[in-house]
Amino acid sequence: MNAPPSVAPLGKDLLGLASLSGDQIRLILDTAEPFKEISERAIKKVPTLRGMTVVNLFFEPSTRTRISFEFAEKRLSADTVNVASSGSSVSKGETLVDTARNLEAMRIDMVVVRHEASGAARFLAERIESNVINAGDGTHEHPTQGLLDILTLRDRLGDLRGRRICICGDVLHSRVARSNIFGLKTLGADVAVCGPRSLLPNAIDELGVTVFQRIEAAIEWADALNVLRLQLERMNAGFIPSLREYNRVFGVTSRRLAAAPRDVLILHPGPMNRGVEIDSDVADGEHSVILNQVTNGVAIRMAVLYLLAGGRPELAGAARRGGEA
Ligand code: CP
Repeated sequence: MNAPPSVAPLGKDLLGLASLSGDQIRLILDTAEPFKEISERAIKKVPTLRGMTVVNLFFEPSTRTRISFEFAEKRLSADTVNVASSGSSVSKGETLVDTARNLEAMRIDMVVVRHEASGAARFLAERIESNVINAGDGTHEHPTQGLLDILTLRDRLGDLRGRRICICGDVLHSRVARSNIFGLKTLGADVAVCGPRSLLPNAIDELGVTVFQRIEAAIEWADALNVLRLQLERMNAGFIPSLREYNRVFGVTSRRLAAAPRDVLILHPGPMNRGVEIDSDVADGEHSVILNQVTNGVAIRMAVLYLLAGGRPELAGAARRGGEA
């Protein structure tokens, strides 16, 4: 792996996939390919981002995204600091921007932010000089999750033009669904959603996707299903009659998949509600690529960090002096 490019092909920040071109998305996916191999080495470290400091600001719970970013940063030799709302001055009422500006005063380079408010990543990016990477903001976007899903689909299906991808379940509350829809459509895939009307956004028709009301019809149509978590913590009204009823009508089960005319690839961004949106034998079954998604997440995040760092000629110089990655 060479030193970062001397221009920033993604701009300063990665806030979502809606604003990325097909060339930019393909660049991230192609850049992730060689990074996959680094994680398979006995010594999983290259000097590419040596000397850079990345702050992971996580104001919502996370397992996969937070740890994946931290692995990606460490494998590129960046220095990392993790900040959670509990235990920091955020719990005393400090604002997001004040927290970030205080961190910048300690000379950081990048901020990875997860926040419950849609738009929080952009709000921050417009107010600080450091690169900002959106690690999930409210119900808006989760771009690195969308990219790792797309990389996993591309690994198995090849060119995604004309491939049929259905996003199933709680689309209403899902930033993952939005990033997938934007990214997949930009790459030419046929995208559908399937779920109860109460869990689809009112403006779903404006996103240019097919809508299935029945999971059986979605399974018959699709090359791949991306099964979403039912986000019970974001539901403040009776969106579904019960979890048991949801599983009965919309659950992705082996019985339903057995009726499909072709093998259907199964994705899930995690964390899963087993026995609700997806049955365990499907999640752990031969067509599941759920753990491949997690593995690809590290490579995607390494690629994003690397490409955003490309706007820093002094960094590229330092990385070259440190040797080829
Ligand atoms: N997929 C995802 O964002 O998982 P976490 O909430 O564990 O980060």
